[in-house]
Amino acid sequence: MRITLSVIKADVGGYVGHSESHPDVLAKAEDCLAKAQKDGLLVDYHVTKCGDDLQLIMTHQQGVDNEKIHKLAWDTFIEGTAVAKRLKLHGAGQDLLADAFSGNVRGMGPGVAEMEFEERAAETVIVLMADKTSSGAWNLPLYKIFADPFNTIGLVIDGKMHQGFSFEVHDVKGHKKVAFDAPEEIYDLLVFIGAPSHYMVKAVYHRGTKEIAAVSSTQRLALIAGKYVGKDDPVCIVRSQGEFPAVGEVLEPFTLPLLVEGWMRGSHNGPLMPVSIPDSTPTRFDGPPRVVAAGFQLSGGKLVGPRDMFADKSFDNARQQALDAADFMRAHGPFEPHRKPLEEMEYTTMPEVMKKLSGRFVDLD
Ligand code: F6R
Ligand code: MG
Ligand code: MG
Repeated sequence: MRITLSVIKADVGGYVGHSESHPDVLAKAEDCLAKAQKDGLLVDYHVTKCGDDLQLIMTHQQGVDNEKIHKLAWDTFIEGTAVAKRLKLHGAGQDLLADAFSGNVRGMGPGVAEMEFEERAAETVIVLMADKTSSGAWNLPLYKIFADPFNTIGLVIDGKMHQGFSFEVHDVKGHKKVAFDAPEEIYDLLVFIGAPSHYMVKAVYHRGTKEIAAVSSTQRLALIAGKYVGKDDPVCIVRSQGEFPAVGEVLEPFTLPLLVEGWMRGSHNGPLMPVSIPDSTPTRFDGPPRVVAAGFQLSGGKLVGPRDMFADKSFDNARQQALDAADFMRAHGPFEPHRKPLEEMEYTTMPEVMKKLSGRFVDLD
């Protein structure tokens, strides 16, 4: 059975500030998707949240980039925005950057990760969702999952994976894409994906079967809007088990609370903390950035789950390390490398301050 798994998300209003999603907004989304399922458009769905982001996880048979599915997501975000406006939530409709739907939500603000595949006898999928960070946050974890034998022992000892994976990398500033085969080309690959604000891993494919293994959202809100309007807060779907990395290999990279851009005012670097879905409430300096993982088995397109994968105690040390790293980074206050470099900050007063002081700058001898 061919199934499409679509994860489409948007921040349509925060409660309180940018720290959480309001239950009434989630309930409205639930109503919208229940109706679409009843009408036969969706096979199944799950509505959840990561911090202030509303997450629509949907299965259907319409393929990727389908207008009906994207319109359903857009209309659901519009309905959610109406609830957010009624409650005067913060930043109601903040990620909806277009006035009207025009065929596809890509480029209109919401984040999208979709993949179509033939459902396997046991189809394990993990949906990763992050808040207070940007799309490149998946580069390091995806590299570790699909190319690093110190993370994924299956690359070494499981014949079904030994050939490796290929990485589709997007240059989000230059609007270009390029593919790399791992393991042979990992040094070339790392030249690019080590710069995650510019080059992002869009998808990963099994080199033997050519099956899709992972897909991420690579929308950069700031590039779409031409100014800061909120962080991308990306999502990523990873298929697991069998010819793909095991669940434990998919989750293992998050034991390192990697430093990502985002956090307060999208203008800082800080640790990505793996948490349970209820704990995705970034409150300390609007952070630290969070990642959650919803695990499902698919059965004829039905979403059996989710299991809240980072609720597990074995991520407690990662959380503690993230909190220690958060303290360490915060101690730098407004200084780099906690605060992002001038040219990359999402908020800045530099033009006004420069203008005000222009007459006071004198040439050095
Ligand atoms: C970061 C984020 C928050 C806001 C901050 C100010 O992604 O969303 O840190 O940037 O709370 O928000 P505004 O400008 O909406 O008052
Ligand atoms: Mg927000
Ligand atoms: Mg958010």
